[in-house]
Amino acid sequence: MCGIVGYIGKKNTKEILLSGLKELEYRGYDSAGIAVLSGDDFSSFKAVGKLINLEEKTKNFTTDSFAIGIGHTRWATHGKPTELNAHPHIGESSYVVHNGIIENYAQIKKELENDGIKFLSQTDTEVIIHLFEKKLKTTTNAFEAFKKTIEDLEGAYAILLVTKNEPKTIFFAKNGSPMLIGINEENEKYFASSDSPLIGQCNKVNYFDDGDYGYVTEDTINVYNSAHKLKKLNLLELSTNKLLAQKDGFRFFMEKEIYEQSSVISDTLMGRLSDDEILFDELDKSFFDDINEIKLCACGTSYHSALTASYMFERYSKIRCSVEVASEFRYRKPLMDKDTLFIVISQSGETADTLETLKMAKEAGLKTLVVCNVDNSSMVRLADACILTRAGIEKGVASTKAFATQVVVFWMLNLYIAKQKKTLSSQEISKQISLLREVPSSVKVKDTTHEKIKRLSKRYLYGHGFFFIGRDVFYPLALEGALKLKEISYLHAEGYPSGEMKHGPIALADPELFTIALLPKNMLYEKAKSNIEELSARDSTICAISATEFDKADDHIMISSYDNYMLEFFEMMVVLQLLSLEISVRLGNDVDMPRNLAKSVTVE
Ligand code: G6P
Repeated sequence: MCGIVGYIGKKNTKEILLSGLKELEYRGYDSAGIAVLSGDDFSSFKAVGKLINLEEKTKNFTTDSFAIGIGHTRWATHGKPTELNAHPHIGESSYVVHNGIIENYAQIKKELENDGIKFLSQTDTEVIIHLFEKKLKTTTNAFEAFKKTIEDLEGAYAILLVTKNEPKTIFFAKNGSPMLIGINEENEKYFASSDSPLIGQCNKVNYFDDGDYGYVTEDTINVYNSAHKLKKLNLLELSTNKLLAQKDGFRFFMEKEIYEQSSVISDTLMGRLSDDEILFDELDKSFFDDINEIKLCACGTSYHSALTASYMFERYSKIRCSVEVASEFRYRKPLMDKDTLFIVISQSGETADTLETLKMAKEAGLKTLVVCNVDNSSMVRLADACILTRAGIEKGVASTKAFATQVVVFWMLNLYIAKQKKTLSSQEISKQISLLREVPSSVKVKDTTHEKIKRLSKRYLYGHGFFFIGRDVFYPLALEGALKLKEISYLHAEGYPSGEMKHGPIALADPELFTIALLPKNMLYEKAKSNIEELSARDSTICAISATEFDKADDHIMISSYDNYMLEFFEMMVVLQLLSLEISVRLGNDVDMPRNLAKSVTVE
């Protein structure tokens, strides 16, 4: 995910910005840049790839007197990871860095282009700087122009902007994306998008609230709230633990990533929903013409999101769909018809087996699409089209938010196709779009649920195995729940279709067999319930996850009551992630780096 730093002070601004960006490396990025303003001199540098490339470009540049500066690490979402798309973005005499997504950028861009402004990049961010400079021409000062610019922006942002008109000021605004300011006794001011660049530099910090904006000079910090009232700073002591700061105070990256699903899903949805249709700028309108079948291929967790998607493709888009594990597909000499769309799903875009299947499909002349989290990855470069999941970097080896965003993308993709092919009514599409808007709140972790799971976890540490069971899309979710548990607890767990238990596995049922039963209210409730009753009658220990009480279960984790099964799916997903996490913690395992596993498997 993108990172932001800013600095006002007398020390070496370039060094401070670069070392701040280094502290943000753990968040993942594909390009970086800085802009430094010292008196009348403006210098800006950008580089694709690792920070070492930016360091190389700036090696002959120094600042030894008072200077202000802004810096950025970019994780591509709108536009490729190129130097032109890297931040800071430039206007005639100003620079901007931005985290988040400007939802109405296309409309603003159109208006600015009509005014004759030429855009250099494909980013949403570039509109901010041109809009600001346009306003500058009709306002009395830079702050007014900045304020008016912010008023026109919709979406999520953390913004730092510098301009030659006010060479000693940094303008800032925050809405939806995190940003804080730090101060110290030496009268320096530091901005960052998370704590870690500030640790060791500042002793006090103020976390900006949504809607905050203002400006900072060497002597003043003026913060206004969304009602344009001047605010008092709420200065807090800064922690000194860097690793804890990188984990945003959570115990593990996996836990942080579970908790941030709500905000990353908002990013996945951003700019892609209107009231009655799904917008995918990245897809050609005719992309699905002449497609009669879909083949999905992936590995691991991505395979589970592919399986989930296959239910939707047949149910919503009415397109025949099949799913395969990439390592199997590679060697079985599969038949590939030209009217089949080949979709690969990969968090990293580098998994060797999945990449090979994509090459096979291309060679066979099939149209290809990748659903991926990393722009410019091998799969993104190879496929005919790409939809980015916008999950940001995932550090925990056990995938969580990558899975969640993949499923969200597939839900959107199905509504996109259903609109084109008229396989769902417009009312149904609008209804489902409003449900999509509810996904971020359905995955918000509730304290009470997490506490309950922490307590329950102690009863699920020993025994001879786990069965995670579900029906319909809750079957792939059960597979994913079992995979999470296997990966980080090293306990034996299987995902199984609820209705299939009676055809064999039920023979294993006894009190030492743990059944994690997914019992959604809105999908085959009675059927799933009788499957669980069969296991309960054979004395399996049952933990039911459901919105309704179920007296045949030994334990029960309650989810909220929804009228739609997909919202139940997303809340149950969080429950399963937390359950594996807490079992792993109790067993004393390394949650983020489980034994024998790698985050990205680039070998066969
Ligand atoms: C590895 C990881 C899994 C991941 C799988 C596929 O095995 O440990 O967590 O699901 O690769 O990765 P991809 O990047 O293609 O989604």
